[in-house]
Amino acid sequence: MYQRPKNLEHFLGVAQTLFQAKTLPDTARRLSAKVFERLEQPSDDGRRNRERFPACELLDSALAALLVDQSNLGVAARAIKTLEPSIGWQRRTSGLNGSDDYVEKHVHGIICGPGGMESRYDVQLGFSLLAPHTRYPDHQHPPEEAYVLLSAGEFRQCEGDWFDPGMGGGLHNAPNSVHAMRSGTTPLVAMWCLLV
Ligand SMILES: [Fe+2]
Repeated sequence: MYQRPKNLEHFLGVAQTLFQAKTLPDTARRLSAKVFERLEQPSDDGRRNRERFPACELLDSALAALLVDQSNLGVAARAIKTLEPSIGWQRRTSGLNGSDDYVEKHVHGIICGPGGMESRYDVQLGFSLLAPHTRYPDHQHPPEEAYVLLSAGEFRQCEGDWFDPGMGGGLHNAPNSVHAMRSGTTPLVAMWCLLV
């Protein structure tokens, strides 16, 4: 029977705290509460995305400042580093308005979800990593989604203005609403979760 690794259990604990922070909109906290409720039940079908992509090499520099930080953001960054060899990586190659080289300059780390460290189909929990000066394409999906930022970064929902929720802040994307994100002069790292 599958037993959840200790480092994953530790990461989930701190991630849950960050997704329940008062700096997030109520809608994001409500969604993530449901995600973490499902995650109380470990589940893994053993499928793994083994391939790494160029943007994976940015993880250390993207997390560098946080790796020595004493807050929960620092705890999360160090926890992600311990998970790195087991993370399932994935990229988006479709969508509108992405910067020219966005495919090479971004990657998603799947921690819980299809092909991730805990490969399952009822929830997704992971993070996005964007190189500096990268604009991720406009996209949408049926599940609503909550984000917590581990760096600076800007987000856009529908036709709204770009906004930066700030480190430790977050946002909520409603079902099927168009959204996008972009980095400035530094890499963007943002954790997300969805109910599937
Ligand atoms: Fe999304």
